[in-house]
Amino acid sequence: MIVGVVKENFPGERRVALIPASVPLLKKAGCEVLVETGAGFEAGYPDPTYEQKGATIVSSRDEVFARSDILLHLLGLGANQDRGRDDLPRYRPGQIALGFFRALGAPETVQEVAATGITAFAIEMLPRITRAQSMDALSSMATVAGYKAVVIAADTLRRMFPMMMTAAGTISPARVLVLGVGVAGLQAIATARRMGAVVSAFDVRPAVKEQVQSLGAKFVELPLESGDAEDTGGYAKAQGEDFLRRQRELMARVVAESDVVITTANVPGRKAPVLVTADMVEAMTPGSVIIDLAAERGGNCELSRAGEVVTTHGVSIVGAVNLAGTVPYHASQMYSSNITTLLLHLLKDGQLAMDSSDEITRETLIARGGKVVHPRVLEALGIPSEVPGDSGRS
Ligand code: NAI
Repeated sequence: MIVGVVKENFPGERRVALIPASVPLLKKAGCEVLVETGAGFEAGYPDPTYEQKGATIVSSRDEVFARSDILLHLLGLGANQDRGRDDLPRYRPGQIALGFFRALGAPETVQEVAATGITAFAIEMLPRITRAQSMDALSSMATVAGYKAVVIAADTLRRMFPMMMTAAGTISPARVLVLGVGVAGLQAIATARRMGAVVSAFDVRPAVKEQVQSLGAKFVELPLESGDAEDTGGYAKAQGEDFLRRQRELMARVVAESDVVITTANVPGRKAPVLVTADMVEAMTPGSVIIDLAAERGGNCELSRAGEVVTTHGVSIVGAVNLAGTVPYHASQMYSSNITTLLLHLLKDGQLAMDSSDEITRETLIARGGKVVHPRVLEALGIPSEVPGDSGRS
C-alpha cells in the first residue's frame, strides 16, 4: 500500500497529517510513504526530515493523489469547506482517505466525498472508548487548545498568574475559572495551575468533580440538579433553558470574582450552551479576560464572536478558533500518532481489513462504494439506512 500525505490547503493551516517519526511505523507495516514537498515545513518538519525516515518527497499534489492507495488528511472536505472540494476530482474510486471530515456537522459534504467512490474514515467519529484512546485526535487537539487558551489568557491579562512574595510587596495570584471540564478544560486547569493561578471549575457531569480536585483546583458546587447529565458515550446531555438560566444566576458571583474565565462547554450536535451573559461580563472587573473555546459553535459567552477579540466594559472576550492549529509542531505530532495508530488498526497483512464486527472500523467508516454508509450521517441527511444500525457493512 502507498500512503500519501499532501500539504493541508485550509487557509492558514500549518499542521500536517503525518510527521517523519511516524514513517518507520508505516514502513514496518509494509507501506511506502509519499509526501508532497513542503507538506510539513510550516509545522517544523522540512522535506529532508521525512526522507531521513524513508519517505519519498513528491513534487506535486496531483502526483501524490495519483500514486497513493491511502491518503492521510488532517482536514478533509467538511472540515475544510472551501478548499477541500479542490481535491474531489483528484480522488480515484477505491482509494482510501482518513481525516477529519466533520461528518455530522456537514453531512451533505460526505455525500460529495462518497460520490468520488473512495472509502473514507472520519477520525472525529471514533468511539470514546479506552481501546481507541491512542487514536483519539479530538482529545489531542482539545489538549493543545486547552493549553493554548491559558497561554493567551496569561498574555492578555494585565496581571501575572503566580503569587509572588517580593521586596516590593506580595503579588496575589490570578483567579481562573474553567467552565466545561472535558479534555480541553482539564488541560486548561492543569496549565493554569502550573503557572501558579488559583483555579476553580464547573461541569454539569458530576464525575468531573474528582478530576478537577485531583488537579489541585476547586470544584464549584452549585445547588443544581443536573440529574443524568452524562450519556453512555461520556458526553454531556443537553440541559433545558430553565437549568441554564439557574446555572447562570448561581454562577454570576463566581464569574464576577474571576480574572480569567475559560469556557469549553459543548453538547454534541447542539449549539454551545450560553453560560456567560452580557450582564455577567459587565459585572467583571475591567481587565478581566474570557477565552471562549466554544466560539465556533455559537459561543459559551453571549458576546463572543468567532475569530475575534471583543472588548466591552474593559473585559476582553477572545472568540478562540482553531487553537490547536496555532501550535502546529506538537499538534501535528499528536495527530500523526493518532492517525497512524488508526490506519495500522484498519490494515491487516498490508491490506484494508473491513472488519464490520470492530466498533472502531464501524464507527469511523462514513463512505464506501459510492455511498454514505454511516447510520448517524444518513440520519442527519434524512436518508433511511439500508440496514438499520449496520454502519459500514456495505
Ligand atoms: P466536549 O468538548 O463535548 O464538552 C466539554 C465539556 O462541556 C464536557 O465535559 C461537558 O460535560 C461540558 N458541559 C456541557 N454543558 C455544560 C454546561 N451547561 N455547564 C458546564 N459544562 C458543560 O467534551 P470532550 O472533551 O470531547 O469530552 C467528552 C467526554 O468524553 C468526557 O467525559 C471525556 O472525559 C470523555 N472522553 C473519554 C475518552 C476515552 O475514554 N477514550 C477520551 C476522551 C474523552
